[in-house]
Amino acid sequence: MTEQVTIGKSAVTTVPLGLGTNAVGGTNLFPDLEDDTGKAIVRTGLEAGITLLDTAFAYGLGHSEELIGQVLKDYDRHQVVVASKAAQDLSSGEVELNNSPKFLRQAVDDSLRRLQTDYLDIFYIHFPDQQTPKDEAVSALNDLKQAGKIRAVGVSNFSLAQVKEANRDGYVDVVEDQYSLLHREAEADLLPYLQQQKISFVPYFPLASGLLTGKYHADVTFPANDIRHKNPDFQGDRFAMIVKKVAQLQSVADAHAATIAQVVLAWYVQNPQIGVVIPGAKKAAQVTANAQALDIKLTAAEYQQIDQLFK
Ligand SMILES: NC(=O)c1ccc[n+]([C@@H]2O[C@H](COP(=O)([O-])OP(=O)(O)OC[C@H]3O[C@@H](n4cnc5c(N)ncnc54)[C@H](OP(=O)(O)O)[C@@H]3O)[C@@H](O)[C@H]2O)c1
Repeated sequence: MTEQVTIGKSAVTTVPLGLGTNAVGGTNLFPDLEDDTGKAIVRTGLEAGITLLDTAFAYGLGHSEELIGQVLKDYDRHQVVVASKAAQDLSSGEVELNNSPKFLRQAVDDSLRRLQTDYLDIFYIHFPDQQTPKDEAVSALNDLKQAGKIRAVGVSNFSLAQVKEANRDGYVDVVEDQYSLLHREAEADLLPYLQQQKISFVPYFPLASGLLTGKYHADVTFPANDIRHKNPDFQGDRFAMIVKKVAQLQSVADAHAATIAQVVLAWYVQNPQIGVVIPGAKKAAQVTANAQALDIKLTAAEYQQIDQLFK
């Protein structure tokens, strides 16, 4: 059985490789994905032994959660770790960030309804607002935890100062932030703080939106409604440099009869500073392949080689 990790100081445990579902639900981040494809992606993940599903209100304005809710009906709810997020308040007709206790309580109830469940394993404040003291926001989430509506308290896209403010009473179990072999800023201050506080870290964009799979060898363009359209990693000299470095992982992949994506994911799984890695997918076959990364054990030398290549 795959080793389990515990989320912060909560009772939530999961396999250390989950599924990111920001493409599920025909979202506003990528060109539309059919509902059936989205549901197949989720189902494939659960069948492959993935336990954690990472969703959010923002993914299709609730539609990702709705599709996941439909799939969950066919599974034992207690075997699945459902993580969702909210902070986007649409009540004024515009998108405004809101971390107020009242908004968060309502957001959790709305997520539960869309997911057709009576608890969330993890609830994250998706983005910080400018007005709510972060410890007040997290205290409201701790009340929801005590009431059994959520099992672990998370924050996402918070600066280190905001994480510290949020964790004033020690209530934060997990932080989700951008981190990958290409974007390692969190290593300087955030990750040491999280380790010291026993807060789990869930990196998003672990495959750098596909760049770290090694599948790109030439100039690539994305449609204007794809978040990668303007991503600097995919442009000019930086893109060429990344492609060249990623290609150097082929020998490690070959040694494991694996793909570059799989050894990259194995690196995160073996990284002691990382709790759960949540690669996204647009095809069920990608999910199956990514889940197989759990079977790869990098040697210490291979781990270091990957680490140093992208330092
Ligand atoms: N908290 C936040 O603010 C936040 C922000 C962003 C994301 N997230 C979460 O983090 C998750 C991961 O981020 P992400 O999905 O955007 O980026 P990612 O995991 O870095 O990249 C995923 C993309 O890479 C490609 N891919 C995946 N597996 C592959 C494989 N085996 N072979 C070839 N290509 C493969 C797919 O795109 P193509 O097929 O199009 O190449 C897939 O959509 C999201 O799903 C979401 O749950 C959270």
